[in-house]
Amino acid sequence: MTEQHANAAASTSGAGSSGGEVPVWSGGVDPDAFREALGSFPTGVSVMTTVHEGQPHGMTANALCSVSLDPPLVLVCVDDTAVMAGEVAASGRFALNVLADDQQALSDHFADPARPAGDAGFAGIAVTTAVTGAAILEGAVAWVDCAVTQRVDAGDHVVVIGKVLAAGASDRRPLLYHRGAYGLVPPATP
Ligand SMILES: Cc1cc2nc3c(=O)[nH]c(=O)nc-3n(C[C@H](O)[C@H](O)[C@H](O)COP(=O)(O)O)c2cc1C
Repeated sequence: MTEQHANAAASTSGAGSSGGEVPVWSGGVDPDAFREALGSFPTGVSVMTTVHEGQPHGMTANALCSVSLDPPLVLVCVDDTAVMAGEVAASGRFALNVLADDQQALSDHFADPARPAGDAGFAGIAVTTAVTGAAILEGAVAWVDCAVTQRVDAGDHVVVIGKVLAAGASDRRPLLYHRGAYGLVPPATP
């Protein structure tokens, strides 16, 4: 390791982690160091969708992962100030659409706080539905359609866990996100 940006001071109190007890740590990391560290973890980009009282909502999200195979569970972390947080709490369902390398405009659109709400926010965007009625974006690399099983408050986000009811995938190439910028999967070398 040639270069490290260390920025932490921590100590622990509490009884340790045996028996499931969680140790309580004090101290904290500089927010910029935290962002830089976690932003160094490359991800794909998804659009999370839901539908409540007939009105669709979509939001760009990259804080997601697979949780369990049996039952099939995924999680996505939603800012608790996002419109999505209230919409998915009310609807109890969502889909995650993994964007393809030619869908950066959809990522930008569904991250734009100025986009119109409801149906108007999906104008000109080709969608289908699977089981829950949440939008599946045409051209996505892959998608999962989920029923919410748990919502866990975690700091300024809510972790939304969903049971996957249906899924699809293609061999399209995904859009990547790393250190605040989009990227592409490099072509395979022979
Ligand atoms: C690449 C990318 C990834 C994002 N990932 C997330 C995420 O995982 N969770 C989240 O709450 N916001 C995420 N955002 C920000 C939201 O997309 C953005 O705040 C959006 O406007 C929220 O929409 P809403 O408030 O209408 O639901 C991301 C934005 C971008 C550009």
